[in-house]
Amino acid sequence: MSVKITGIIARMVLDSRGIPTVEATVRTDRSEGTASVPAGTSSGAHEAREVRDGDRRWNGQGVRKAVSHVNVEIARALRGADAADQGAIDARLQELDRAKRSGLGANALLAVSLATLQAAAEAAKEPLWRYVAEGEPRGLPVPMLNVLNGGAHADNGLSIQEFMILPIGFDAFSEALRAGAETYRALYDILVDRGLSTGVGLEGGFAPELDGHHDALDLLLQAIERAGYRPGEQIALALDVAASELYRGGGYRFDGHTLSAEQLAIEYETLTQRYPLVSLEDPYAEDDWGGWKALKGRVATQVVADDLTVTDAKRITKAATEAGISGVILKPNQAGTYTEAAAARRVAAEQGLAAIASHRSRETTDAWISDLAVGWETGFIKAGAPARGERVAKYNRLLAIERAIGSQAVYHGRNALVTTEARHA
Ligand code: PGA
Ligand code: ZN
Repeated sequence: MSVKITGIIARMVLDSRGIPTVEATVRTDRSEGTASVPAGTSSGAHEAREVRDGDRRWNGQGVRKAVSHVNVEIARALRGADAADQGAIDARLQELDRAKRSGLGANALLAVSLATLQAAAEAAKEPLWRYVAEGEPRGLPVPMLNVLNGGAHADNGLSIQEFMILPIGFDAFSEALRAGAETYRALYDILVDRGLSTGVGLEGGFAPELDGHHDALDLLLQAIERAGYRPGEQIALALDVAASELYRGGGYRFDGHTLSAEQLAIEYETLTQRYPLVSLEDPYAEDDWGGWKALKGRVATQVVADDLTVTDAKRITKAATEAGISGVILKPNQAGTYTEAAAARRVAAEQGLAAIASHRSRETTDAWISDLAVGWETGFIKAGAPARGERVAKYNRLLAIERAIGSQAVYHGRNALVTTEARHA
């Protein structure tokens, strides 16, 4: 049954850093869908391009042009189209994007693509998570809770961008989230005891001045124990190095020193031996394929690509065969449309990679990423700390989905982890 698009309208809304972003509403003959798009701070060079105004207003970050691309070009082209045919909608969006010299912008495209998906789900009387699923999804992802922020997400001098806790040793998502949130509170108490700042970074994790990443990881172990949990067994650790941000002239700026790819590999070996680290994201820069290859087979953790693969099916295939990754980040706004992001998810599954649905550092309170995580059956979700509205919106949405699935719900837990060794076994 076709679901006819009757109108599309976009508007500017603010993201969690007070910077404009695009929200779109798609109306059909029987439903309506709205979606807003996030943005990155440590964005990858190979991501789909946003359109920003580049004028005096909003430090050049305005979205008047992107909003007008939706309200004029896209609204005109998609009027009367079938919202239930997401593939055709997204193909048309791509075509329009290519036809315009400076592009329509991934921010304009994704807002319309996801608002269409929402409208089609509503027309089908399905929640989004079930609408996008192939079967009847029952699995809830492991929340990768980013509780200490550094790198481009804070001003505290830590080189590594994200220090995450992963509550893997629990039977239900809600129990895992509770353990994670209790650990976050215990971390707060430790910071207060030590007289350190409890101010937070872009994703809601604390951002104290620490003596480097070993100090940060020690702090997380203490917080897990203080909250009454067993490090490693119940709550494991993960890092997003976001190494593209540290890469200068062939070396990596790390805590005031410049490290070669090999020196960095040795440091990762040390870290994975010393701490219950189970996942390591972007250990090398987005174009340093040599660095990625040098790490192959040397750490027992899940090795995750983000800037390297940018939610692109082709780059994921290349990285899976050449770079020795075992997991991949899925951020729909890196791709541009829902269909491309879904293709990236499919390729990740074909390649036997762990899939991690992810928010961005600049978010809105929209929580479609949680629905995609469940509908796509990703093992993990990254949505920041269990604090601040735009982050907890995602976790709260997962609590609601868990309740909706009811007694059939399963929590992926530690089974979601994929090591490079396991991938090749
Ligand atoms: P970003 O950070 O949204 O600023 O790109 C998130 C990440 O690197 O995973
Ligand atoms: Zn990342």
